[in-house]
Amino acid sequence: MSKKVHIFDTTLRDGEQVPGCKLVTKEKLIIAEQLDLMGVDVLEAGFPISSPGDFKSVEEISKLVKNATVCGLSRAVKKDIKCAAEALTYAKRPRIHTGIGTSDSHIRAKFNSTREKILERAVAAVKYAKSFVEDVEFYAEDAGRTDNEYLARIVEAAIKAGATVVNIPDTTGYCLPHEYGAKIQYLVEHVKGIHKVHISAHCHNDLGLATANSIAAVEHGATQVECTLNGIGERAGNTSLEEVVMIINHRKKGEFYTDIKTPMLKGMSELVSTKMGVVVQANKAIVGDNAFAHSSGIHQDGVIKSRETYEIINPKDVGVDFSSIVLTARSGRSAIAYRAKHLGHNLSKVQLDLIYPHFLSVADSKKEVNNEDLLKIIKTVVLAKAA
Ligand code: KIV
Ligand code: ZN
Repeated sequence: MSKKVHIFDTTLRDGEQVPGCKLVTKEKLIIAEQLDLMGVDVLEAGFPISSPGDFKSVEEISKLVKNATVCGLSRAVKKDIKCAAEALTYAKRPRIHTGIGTSDSHIRAKFNSTREKILERAVAAVKYAKSFVEDVEFYAEDAGRTDNEYLARIVEAAIKAGATVVNIPDTTGYCLPHEYGAKIQYLVEHVKGIHKVHISAHCHNDLGLATANSIAAVEHGATQVECTLNGIGERAGNTSLEEVVMIINHRKKGEFYTDIKTPMLKGMSELVSTKMGVVVQANKAIVGDNAFAHSSGIHQDGVIKSRETYEIINPKDVGVDFSSIVLTARSGRSAIAYRAKHLGHNLSKVQLDLIYPHFLSVADSKKEVNNEDLLKIIKTVVLAKAA
């Protein structure tokens, strides 16, 4: 039976940690409403203690969201947890996300503490959060670099204290996919009670492996993936929501599924990019402007004959209207004929042969031959000859 992978969107919290990308509450509400409509299971709305603005955003999002669980972040600190609980007062399904650094580097350098004391703080934080809400997610920050035996101990203690979800962040994007997958498997095999809770993958993209690591986690037992639209986030970003969802839909069909309405992906990507002022790279998987654009003659010829020759995803499935055939100096006659037909000209082979050298000379002088250029060539070469 196909297993559901829960999508935890953190565009408005971890995603918003991109330098210079602060959103005001009004903008967050627009994005949150669409995320809820798109079908995310959990929406991390912010870090309420961090500023009055963030508190207000979490509170307003809690009032607005109809279906998703609304989550607020906190450190393992009482005043943070209480503040998160207050900001979530109006949520239909509130979740407090609390936790602490668990790697030796965090324990020593950040907290000047010991493993035992950190474990006690984790347990106290989960218990305190549990006094406000039923749904408590515990994060073991820098779990990617945390010794597995200690990680299993602290995760088990958090579950015993009442955690409903255990988040295993690769905070620094350090792990390789086989290592992160093995870490999740280790927890599945060694933590008492883990089968009663969700295991969450939260990966950063410092080595470009966030998506691969998240998928490895799912393959080894994670039931929730934390991600952002366009993969935005601290430093090199977080796992990209659109990539994880389309990998699950496309390559893991029958084994796993998500509830995301994928035709909303392109529009959501544009919305987040516009509101946050972060441009999406053209070659970004799934949502980049070139994700379904073909410019070399060989590929264009294939796609015109059958889309599947060079596309593994139907663009309509992610909200892109059509595959685009970009006319450049690498294009062949079939691409010219294809575009000309869309412009109302059914060109014969002889006409195409006539046009081709003119097309190439225009194409060599600019990056892309547009409709206007092509019509001009057809008019001067074909129609003039016929006159
Ligand atoms: O990357 C990380 O460890 C985080 C936690 C606060 C969940 O974002
Ligand atoms: Zn993070």
